[in-house]
Amino acid sequence: MSIKLNYSNLFPFLSRQELEPFFARARQAQKTLLGKDGPGVDFLGWVDLPVEITEEQILRLESSAKEIRSKCDAFITIGIGGSYLGGRAVSEALLGAGPVAENPGCPAAYYAGHNISAVQMNRLLSRIENRDVCLNVISKYGSTTEPGIAFRILRGWMEKKYGQEASSRIIATTDRAKGALHNLAKKKGYETFIIPDDVGGRFSVLTPVGLLPLAVSGIDIRSFIEGFKSARKRYLKNDDPLSNPALFYAAARNALYEKGKTIEVLSNFESDLHGIAEWWKQLFGESEGKEEKGIFPAAVDFPTDLHSMGQYLQNGKRDLFETFLMVGEKTEEYAVPEDPEDSDGLNFLAGLDFAEVNLRAYNGTKIAHYDGGVPNMTIWLNRIDAESIGELLYFFELAVAFSGYMLGVNPFDQPGVEDYKKNMFALLGKPGFEELGRELQNRQKECGQNISG
Ligand code: PA5
Repeated sequence: MSIKLNYSNLFPFLSRQELEPFFARARQAQKTLLGKDGPGVDFLGWVDLPVEITEEQILRLESSAKEIRSKCDAFITIGIGGSYLGGRAVSEALLGAGPVAENPGCPAAYYAGHNISAVQMNRLLSRIENRDVCLNVISKYGSTTEPGIAFRILRGWMEKKYGQEASSRIIATTDRAKGALHNLAKKKGYETFIIPDDVGGRFSVLTPVGLLPLAVSGIDIRSFIEGFKSARKRYLKNDDPLSNPALFYAAARNALYEKGKTIEVLSNFESDLHGIAEWWKQLFGESEGKEEKGIFPAAVDFPTDLHSMGQYLQNGKRDLFETFLMVGEKTEEYAVPEDPEDSDGLNFLAGLDFAEVNLRAYNGTKIAHYDGGVPNMTIWLNRIDAESIGELLYFFELAVAFSGYMLGVNPFDQPGVEDYKKNMFALLGKPGFEELGRELQNRQKECGQNISG
């Protein structure tokens, strides 16, 4: 069980000599991470989570999940960014993508608080109307607007439906001591799980943020944790980029970036991995995009997007590189059927399994994009199961830490996320933001140059 990184298609866009200095820089970044002497040192709790999580914590998560499962047939996770993307990504990879991922005997999973859409809120409320509901509200700082609004509405809905019993159906995952959510949970007596101080949102999937919803969905969180452990063992300390794919990946990304490849496209050939790519976008975008630097992380699902973004990837501006995310073992089979009349001319495919067709689509695409001037690498995952997905997530967390340090930024903060929040609060009239509110309203008027046809 391990991740394999194929890098043949980096050449000749990069030469081996050009890569060498980046190997040295990747090793230096690894030393910085291990020595805990780089920026963001207060947010390195994720590094040791796989080995620090205790049997007691796992048992508590499992028994809470069991109780939740016995009480409801709909489980709503409220959260945004790092407070929902990881759990949702893993759940969709293992149980299927779509608005409602279901596992027999487990409640249907719903998500709220990651948008401000009356349409979506109304749809959710109508979908849960006749269901028994439990709800997990997740917010590290406890005052994020989008999940806050959703929780206000859904809490009200639960209180109306269940009266006092609502409190025993609501679980809060938040800071141990402060924040509006912490205070509310205490007041209402919700069961509470803690997000450790030294783990940032996008690195928090191995805390109760990800683990509780996954356990509720019937996912084997012990195997998931094993995957993290095994990745930590393989990739954290090995300082040879030729046997440590996390180091190699970080080195290659930075080498490509310095040659003008400023966009990375993560391309998968298994659409259940769509959510993993969404999580990856946040992890890399929020960790590296600062100080006017960073590789822009984009993602596509193939073959679907070969019929939309494929054109750009093949012939558009050559400022990108591609990382394919592939799965080695197939877990299910389906062969293309024979048609006695061959009316669609597809009998040349008859008997071929989907996995084989998909593999050839990948090989064809990889070569075509390479020929079109797009350097690429491929990350091979053994299979899609809880352990392999855990290994993949830790691999990416390490890689972004190495890569961010190589880029010269603090990979563990997100100061830019605050700017839109301040403006939104000011424009919404939040007390304390009055002056900024007036200034922004004036600027809005100045910008009001519209054309309508
Ligand atoms: O990675 C991060 O820190 C962010 O994406 C947060 O997870 C996101 O902003 C939600 O914050 P909170 O959990 O405090 O509501």
